[in-house]
Amino acid sequence: MASPLRTDIHVSEDLEKLSLRAAEIFVSCSGESITSKKNFRAALSGGSTPKRLHALLASEPFRSRVDWRGVEVFFGDERCVPPEHRDSNFGAANEALLSRVPARAHRILGELPPREAALRYEEEVRRAFGFEAGVPSLDLVYLGLGADGHTASLFPGTAALDETERLAVEVYVERLESWRVTLTLPVLNAARKVVFLVSGRAKAEIVREVIAGPDGGYPASLVRPTGGSVLWLLDRAAASLL
Ligand code: 6PG
Repeated sequence: MASPLRTDIHVSEDLEKLSLRAAEIFVSCSGESITSKKNFRAALSGGSTPKRLHALLASEPFRSRVDWRGVEVFFGDERCVPPEHRDSNFGAANEALLSRVPARAHRILGELPPREAALRYEEEVRRAFGFEAGVPSLDLVYLGLGADGHTASLFPGTAALDETERLAVEVYVERLESWRVTLTLPVLNAARKVVFLVSGRAKAEIVREVIAGPDGGYPASLVRPTGGSVLWLLDRAAASLL
């Protein structure tokens, strides 16, 4: 029997206020981590929802509240495209944030063949953690939620959901007819803090299913961090069916 998971929910009026809340979390988590262990390792989510968060972190007052030299940025997933491609999660985060702050970024090499990109990313993650034994524990992981219940690039019905050894895997997404690279559940569930960012009425049904419904086996429902809790930052529209 899985250990009980505490689901904390914070509803903001709109995406702007949700993003401000998410930025405050980044500032506080990074401050605590850097104070205690001189580094802060966070994974950014992809898609459109986090774009405002990234822009906020690159601008005042948030920019100067983070000791960026101690920050290492990872990605929860990436589309298998070059970084300059319009679909690249790194490309978007680099334009909005990473090119504007002295953080160290660990990019998924989307321009490589998918399996090679996944293997290289796993090696990069392990190296960043000094090849510590076991599953690396990121300090903070932001995640998005797709209308089908996917998170990162852990899509329903893919073998990625069953991966227990690898830290990152390549995923072919039939519906999108495209390849992705994603962190696996062992990594997401080893994170110290997991924060879902979900905005918009189009996500209200899946939010209700994942948070309040019977265990529908959605990929997002499999995110059960050993720390025992998940924080959902929702705007009013995404929370409208809760
Ligand atoms: C990606 C993501 C994916 C995303 C959700 C929500 O690469 O697309 O990591 O999991 O977070 O699909 O996307 P939106 O924020 O665009 O709705």
